[in-house]
Amino acid sequence: MTTPSAAQFPGDRTAIVTGAGSARGIGRAIAGSLAAQGWSVAVFDVDRAAVEELAAGLEQEHGRPCYGAGLDIRDRDAVFAAVEQVEQRLPQLTGLVNNAGVSSPVPFLEVTDDEWRRVVEVNLHGTFHVTQAAAKVMARHRVGRIVHISSTSAERGGGVYGRAAYSASKAALLGFARTLARELGPFGITANSVAPGSIDTDIMGGRLSEERKAVLLRDLPIGRIGTVQDVAAVVSFLLSEAAGYLTGVTYDVNGGSHIA
Ligand SMILES: NC(=O)c1ccc[n+]([C@@H]2O[C@H](COP(=O)([O-])OP(=O)(O)OC[C@H]3O[C@@H](n4cnc5c(N)ncnc54)[C@H](O)[C@@H]3O)[C@@H](O)[C@H]2O)c1
Repeated sequence: MTTPSAAQFPGDRTAIVTGAGSARGIGRAIAGSLAAQGWSVAVFDVDRAAVEELAAGLEQEHGRPCYGAGLDIRDRDAVFAAVEQVEQRLPQLTGLVNNAGVSSPVPFLEVTDDEWRRVVEVNLHGTFHVTQAAAKVMARHRVGRIVHISSTSAERGGGVYGRAAYSASKAALLGFARTLARELGPFGITANSVAPGSIDTDIMGGRLSEERKAVLLRDLPIGRIGTVQDVAAVVSFLLSEAAGYLTGVTYDVNGGSHIA
């Protein structure tokens, strides 16, 4: 069987970053890093005001068209409509970062059906919707880069703060990305995962306390808590033209916690 070859990596190109609304979050740092590297960025989040403001700011700072869409990634129709807007407003859709996610600190024996569904519907089903909408466009253009933001919790079975529902949903993303790598490779699309360890954001409802930091640091050979820039640097690389031979892999951005 002959497979179609990948098209050229476009000079004018767009990446979608989901979950870029939170002020100190990973998604915002990824969006900023990509914009600084010449991407037009489309940012999706339930916080419409935040992503509209972010898109306007990135557009002003970097001089490329950007777009903010207020939507819930669980809403399949809203996701497909937003991706259509991206196609109409911005340069060729080439990158997707599935970053939107919710955590769940509930111990397994106490997890309710509602709690399980809340987490899986955002982290897994939402990621499915955005990925399928974007991948259809990328497949048409025969070039693309997809990155899922998983978590150390998927690999270690929680242990930081995410418990069963979170770990299960984030582990599902690893298998999902590998399947995408296999199925979409012939379309010139790569698919990879990034598994961050403890990153100092507000995902657990505020800044990490000094006590919490001290506990986390015991497991970290690098000797500091991760930053959003640590994650953004790796994601930006995986979206670059230079990363075109990497697919189906997971990058652990965790300060060495696996070897501690
Ligand atoms: N912070 C960490 O230590 C850490 C570690 C490993 C993985 N992660 C993952 O990184 C990603 C970003 O985390 P963060 O720490 O920046 O969290 P955050 O809470 O600061 O940001 C998450 C963003 O996702 C958005 N979001 C949530 N549900 C959504 C939905 N249904 N539709 C659209 N947007 C939605 C939120 O509004 C928020 O802006 C998450 O997937 C998280 O699981 C974080």
